[in-house]
Amino acid sequence: MFLILLIASMFSQGLATVSYGKDFITAFPENTGYFYPYTSSRSLRITALHNDTTFNVHFNNTQTPSSVLQSGQTVSVSFPITAEVHRLGSSSNSIRITSEKDIVVHSFSQTDATTAYNSVQSHVVQPITKLGTSYLIPSLNQSDLVQTFSGSLAPLCSQRYSSFKLIIINAEDTENTLTIFKSISGSVQEEKIKISSYQLLQMQADASLIKVESSHKVAVILTHPCLENTTSCKCNMIVNQILPAQFQGQNFVVPYIPGITQSRLLMTSNDMSASLSHNNVQLQPSPSGFLSLSDQMKSQYVKASGYVSLTLISPGLIFEVIPENMFAACYLLQFYSDTSSTKKALVIAETGSKNNVHKQNIPVTNTQWTEIIGTKYSSAEISFSEFTTVIWHPTSKIAVYLLENSGTSVYGGPAIPINTQPDEFGCVAIPGHYEVGNDRLSWAESLAHCTSLQKHLACPTSEDIQKELSGKVNGTEEEEAWIGLRRSLMTTDWYWQRQTPSTTSLPSSSVDYFYWADGHPDEKFRGLCASLLLNQDDEYKWKSAKCCEKKRPVCYKPSISFYPLTSDTTSSASLEFF
Ligand SMILES: *[C@@H]1O[C@H](CO)[C@@H](O)[C@H](O)[C@H]1NC(C)=O
Ligand SMILES: *[C@@H]1O[C@H](CO)[C@@H](O)[C@H](O)[C@H]1NC(C)=O
Ligand SMILES: *[C@@H]1O[C@H](CO)[C@@H](O)[C@H](O)[C@H]1NC(C)=O
Ligand SMILES: *[C@@H]1O[C@H](CO)[C@@H](O)[C@H](O)[C@H]1NC(C)=O
Ligand SMILES: *[C@@H]1O[C@H](CO)[C@@H](O)[C@H](O)[C@H]1NC(C)=O
Repeated sequence: MFLILLIASMFSQGLATVSYGKDFITAFPENTGYFYPYTSSRSLRITALHNDTTFNVHFNNTQTPSSVLQSGQTVSVSFPITAEVHRLGSSSNSIRITSEKDIVVHSFSQTDATTAYNSVQSHVVQPITKLGTSYLIPSLNQSDLVQTFSGSLAPLCSQRYSSFKLIIINAEDTENTLTIFKSISGSVQEEKIKISSYQLLQMQADASLIKVESSHKVAVILTHPCLENTTSCKCNMIVNQILPAQFQGQNFVVPYIPGITQSRLLMTSNDMSASLSHNNVQLQPSPSGFLSLSDQMKSQYVKASGYVSLTLISPGLIFEVIPENMFAACYLLQFYSDTSSTKKALVIAETGSKNNVHKQNIPVTNTQWTEIIGTKYSSAEISFSEFTTVIWHPTSKIAVYLLENSGTSVYGGPAIPINTQPDEFGCVAIPGHYEVGNDRLSWAESLAHCTSLQKHLACPTSEDIQKELSGKVNGTEEEEAWIGLRRSLMTTDWYWQRQTPSTTSLPSSSVDYFYWADGHPDEKFRGLCASLLLNQDDEYKWKSAKCCEKKRPVCYKPSISFYPLTSDTTSSASLEFF
């Protein structure tokens, strides 16, 4: 019982689900097979959230000259084929990206677009803050998988590449002891391996490999150089960076993938008895653990009996489904090709507020939404012409998958989460903050004081904002401070005014939330302005007060949002790494 409580509380804590950071480590897995000498390319796309961001890329004991990016700018860094991890065992082919300010990193890998083996794959490179020391590995049986998707094993093209691979990268500048757990005929066997600073280890990953633990943080990449569709005898490289075991959930909306007709789910969990159900019917796994949903042409809700992670797999694609507890408010999307491919996002948003999903700074319109049965969500496909963009929601959390189709392969997966909490300004690079001024002023002087500091009088226009404000400001006992609420002499209606001049007032119709202290507002209209009680015991409730009274102002410095510079051609500069 104690153990269950402990595990439950571990998952209920707010996880740092965002994928930006200042420190990253990754590697390029083998694409198609090095004995096929096709032209291929590997690159990292780096986007800065802040202005004047200096970053460095370290590979093979050298580093790129440091470059400076402005907020929203993207740079593409290319790597030689020697950067690919071809052999099993340890190597120093890891790539580190460091930066003074927050950035996001996306990895792309492509073989020659003109050959039958054309294959593009991409994945979000997770920042070191989002890495861990315990990873559950989806149990992938290659021969079962090929049979599942193609019905039979065509001897001509099958078994050229016999196994999935796991790349484990030491994310720290110290020796790391890995423990590899294998389940062989029902018994769990452990093997310990040491890897030195920033080194990586590549190993075969068949269905017996179930878990990796480490003494220090590692990045874990699951890959296959060329997973075949034996019907067409073509193959795709697949790659997925696995998230640490604490990033699990119980409720999932499995996205519909345009261009993919067949996919399977694989569930991983510490709980051996965990099961998955759809429409209250328990899904029965195949002997190798593959789960399948009947109608794959729409997004569907599945519920797990415990905390699990769900991997979606098809011959050309592998990624982890975003659990509901990890939905976020804003996502960055980086596409690989700016011309030939079809660029789409699959968005899952609350049905009631779906029309408020934004792309860049405008709401997305003309979109066909489909309600997801058994949930409060709907899903829609949104098409793009941009190379990089953001999708966000001002008031609720959403899930966004990036899906690109090159004509021969579909690639992508979860988009890059930038903000977990919704914000009216979009994707926040610098969060807003509250501050109580030092001087006691009238309401009008307070308004002018905040404006002069490029701030505005605090306007808790919703319960969420009131909660955010509570505890961020304190005063002396029973002290009150001015907020941006006042009453019209003519209509007696309350309205919000943030700044001088009054053109920046919020429309009066927006005052649908109040948090008055007992006995307030004074119904004899003696107080036409409003103040906030500056302490926890009074729950930061509001009072009406005479506008000429002297109180300290609560000023708010608005958040600064971030938009990728899609129209700016200089924003996709590139660097070669040799
Ligand atoms: C970056 O600089 C531009 C121009 O000075 C400014 O408008 C923008 O708000 C800045 N962005 C951030 C995230 O600081
Ligand atoms: C690292 O650099 C050395 C010297 O320039 C070169 O010989 C070697 O091939 C490089 N290794 C990789 C993996 O790129
Ligand atoms: C994979 O599946 C095949 C066919 O079902 C089976 O013979 C083999 O033992 C499985 N391998 C593992 C490692 O489970
Ligand atoms: C395998 O290839 C055939 C022929 O190109 C195609 O019809 C089928 O959809 C492919 N299967 C999968 C699972 O992609
Ligand atoms: C305000 O007071 C509350 C309760 O005493 C405390 O939890 C909170 O951290 C304080 N906030 C600031 C900004 O000092």
